[in-house]
Amino acid sequence: MREVLVLNGPNLGRLGSREPEVYGSQAFDDLVETCRATGRALGLHVDVRQTDDEAELIKWVHEAIDARTPVVLNPAAFTHYSYALRDALAMRTAPLVEVHLTNPATRETFRHTSVVAGVADGTIAGFGLMSYELALRAIAELAAAAAAGAGRDAAGTTEGNTG
Ligand code: DQA
Repeated sequence: MREVLVLNGPNLGRLGSREPEVYGSQAFDDLVETCRATGRALGLHVDVRQTDDEAELIKWVHEAIDARTPVVLNPAAFTHYSYALRDALAMRTAPLVEVHLTNPATRETFRHTSVVAGVADGTIAGFGLMSYELALRAIAELAAAAAAGAGRDAAGTTEGNTG
């Protein structure tokens, strides 16, 4: 079964009690369960992690790079200023989808910049826990397309090579 890492940055472990008027009342455990259930439905093994530590998050990104593991990432506040995280993600070897519970574009100006977006396949923001479900669906599609492409290449049936 394909492994996917769902990585979460600072303060997301406080979901449920963290500014519920902004982030809703569901707890981090609910996020974990949503991701696992979505993974089961898609045939993915989902490993959900959270850290408040930039170095630890970058270490997990390196782990994903080395193992060619796709990543769903909510970088939280690191989204807006961590060039170190962006530089790590730029080395990625598998699909990367950036997610946000809220829609940062509708919030304070400092949240309008994502230094991560430019190295991701795409960004899903504003749908609460459904952002994660949609991101995992995108990862499943991207991984399947990549596997099909690799299969075609291995069979030597790509266009221009069928002669
Ligand atoms: C967030 C949005 C960020 O601006 C904020 O710093 C977070 C959460 C979101 O999921 O909506 O911590 O990434």
